[in-house]
Amino acid sequence: MPTREQLLALTDELRRLRSGGERSVAVTEESMEQLRVAVSAAAAIPADAAVARVAGPQFLAASPTPAPAPVASRPVAAPKPAPAPALPAAPTVTLPEGDKRARWAALHELVVNDPVCRAQLRPGKKVVLGVGSLESRIFFCGEAPGAEEEVQGEPFVGPAGQLLTRMIQGMGLKREDVYIGNIMNWRPELPAGPSGIQVGNRPPTAEEMNYCLPYLKAQIEIVQPQLIVALGATAAGGLLGAGTFKTLGEIKGRWHQFAGKSVMVTYHPSYILRNNSNRSKRSIWEDLLQVMERVGLPISDKQRNFFL
Ligand code: URA
Repeated sequence: MPTREQLLALTDELRRLRSGGERSVAVTEESMEQLRVAVSAAAAIPADAAVARVAGPQFLAASPTPAPAPVASRPVAAPKPAPAPALPAAPTVTLPEGDKRARWAALHELVVNDPVCRAQLRPGKKVVLGVGSLESRIFFCGEAPGAEEEVQGEPFVGPAGQLLTRMIQGMGLKREDVYIGNIMNWRPELPAGPSGIQVGNRPPTAEEMNYCLPYLKAQIEIVQPQLIVALGATAAGGLLGAGTFKTLGEIKGRWHQFAGKSVMVTYHPSYILRNNSNRSKRSIWEDLLQVMERVGLPISDKQRNFFL
C-alpha cells in the first residue's frame, strides 16, 4: 500500500501535470484499488503527523524495478488549488549600483522584507530568494519553495533539491558553482491540517508568479548567466508564458528566450523522483548535455553515455 508520503508526492505530481496542461492520466485498476485503500487509511492519520522524508533515488544509480505498465486510461480529478489571494501590483525593483555581491545583498533585504511576501507565510516560515554563485553561467529556475525550503529560507534543499544537487554533480559541477532560484519567493498556501501545518504543495497561480517575477528578473540581472534551465512546466510557464504551450513535451529539450537569456526547458527533479526510470533520467540528462555543450563544459564519454 502506498505510504502517506507517496500519496502526497502523487497529489503534488497531479497538480504539476495539470498545470502543465495534462487533463488525464493512465491508472491501472490495481493501482486504483490500492489508492482507494490508501486514501481511506490516510484519512485516519492526523494531517499534521510528522512526515518522514521520501528517500530520493540516486540520480546516477540504477533504477528500481519499474512500475507495472498502465493498462487503462481514465480521467483523474486533480485536487483543487486554494483560491488565489488578491495581490497588489508587482513590485518595481531598482537595484543599487555596486558589485554583484552588494546588489544581491540589497535585493535579498528587499525581498525578505517585502510585506506582500511576508504576508503569505505561516508563522516562523521564511521568504526564499535564490542562492549560489553570482558568477555562474547557469541559472537553474524552479517553481516555488516547499516545506523544507520555507523552513531553511533556501531553494531546493528538500528531496527534489538533493536530486538537483546530484544532477549538478553529474555535470561535473558543485552546487555552489551554479545559481539556483525559483519563480516564487514563498510557498503557495494550501489549507493546513488541524494544528496549522501545511501538508503538500500546489503550483503557484499566474497572479502569484506575476508578483514575484520582478525579483527573479532582478536576480538574472545581477548574475548575468549565459542561460537559464527551467525546471518543470510551472517554471517554464512563469518564464515563457503559460499560454505559450499546452504540454511540457512541446517545449522540453529545446531552447527558448527569457529576459535576453537562452532558456532550456526540462523536467522538474521531482518528476524523476516519481518516474525513476532510465528513460526519464536519460531524457533530463540529454537536456543537461545540451546545457553543458552551450556553456562549454567538458563532457567525457562516460557522461555522454549516462543512462543509455
Ligand atoms: N521545488 C521547487 O521548484 N523549488 C524548490 O525550491 C523546491 C522544490
